[in-house]
Amino acid sequence: MIVSDDDLAAVVATYRSGWLSMGPQTEVLESAFAEYTGAKHALAVANGTAGLHLICAATGLRPGDEVVVPSMTFVASVNAIAYTGATPVFADVASVTEPWLSAASVEAVLTPRTRAVMQVAYAGHSGETEALAALCSDRSLTLLEDAAHAAGSRLKGRHLGTFGLASAFSLFSNKNLAVGEGGLVVTDDDDVAAQVRLLRSHGMTTMSWQRHKGHATSYDVVALGYNYRLDEPRAALARNRLGRLDAENAQRGALDARYRDALSGHDVLCALEPVDELQSAHHLFTIVLPEGTDRDAFRASLAERRVQTSVHYPPSHRFSIYEGEHGPLDVTEAYGDRTVTLPLFAHMTEQQQDLVTDAVSHALTPRTRAA
Ligand SMILES: Cc1ncc(COP(=O)(O)O)c(C=O)c1O
Repeated sequence: MIVSDDDLAAVVATYRSGWLSMGPQTEVLESAFAEYTGAKHALAVANGTAGLHLICAATGLRPGDEVVVPSMTFVASVNAIAYTGATPVFADVASVTEPWLSAASVEAVLTPRTRAVMQVAYAGHSGETEALAALCSDRSLTLLEDAAHAAGSRLKGRHLGTFGLASAFSLFSNKNLAVGEGGLVVTDDDDVAAQVRLLRSHGMTTMSWQRHKGHATSYDVVALGYNYRLDEPRAALARNRLGRLDAENAQRGALDARYRDALSGHDVLCALEPVDELQSAHHLFTIVLPEGTDRDAFRASLAERRVQTSVHYPPSHRFSIYEGEHGPLDVTEAYGDRTVTLPLFAHMTEQQQDLVTDAVSHALTPRTRAA
């Protein structure tokens, strides 16, 4: 991530102000992000995982409840459900080039105990969000959204993360709106917002900033809350960076299109084809290797050319903690075995991108194929 001079100035000014946590910068960020997403409430939190935990808690999830979640996600989406005592139930993704939660697969795992569905905007793509929202409304289920990848993603002009009851965004260092550690919860629901506000700070009814402003002199503790607060310097940094998020996402979009062109003659599939009416955050660019390719050898070959790759994600149901009963997750497993994430960042140059595509061409020689 590039930290600009005005990013630094915003952070320094905040340190100089002497107020370091949950104060005016947090309030400014919250109203800016609410306006940016078109949501009624935005609440700053310590990180995206804390945000996910809070929306699960504010939904009232508890032991005995089931929440459907893709296994093809970062494990935090699953953990957040488990923190409440509810049971995560895995559903499959749509196809190897559409690695998002399939509404048909969700439908197949619903039981009388299902309370909610956790949609994940994988790579900032809307996937089947509308179908999932319709399914949840038909079955009286709560739709929650892990919007960690989706800062700046809009479907038909509506920001992802505003299709369900509540959502959580991440400001982690590798995200489109990065500050290091941080997160934002978004909701239109006044009760959820009040719960999240309460639970992010120990269940206390007032905060130091309100007391400082003379709005209160004491507080009560009315719920078992957490310390999930964001500090002021990072709130100021996020606010500053929000101003250039759309431009940076557009740069990512141009690079995404350029990758697709350059790789079109190659023996790989490009996942996450852009769709009409989606303005994507283009958080990730992932390819799918031919079946039988030795992915480790492919990645090692790119690494030799100093091209960093990663895998988003090892499926959650294969982690020891979540091993157990689940329905068919064949597409998740195929994608999990064959996907590789190529470098993509807003300030990536075309020359850098050409190095990556050359390295992909070079690696796709028979030596990365299993015998
Ligand atoms: C899909 C997804 N969900 C949740 C998170 C958790 O966010 P954070 O790292 O801010 O806790 C991340 C990123 O780290 C993520 O990629």
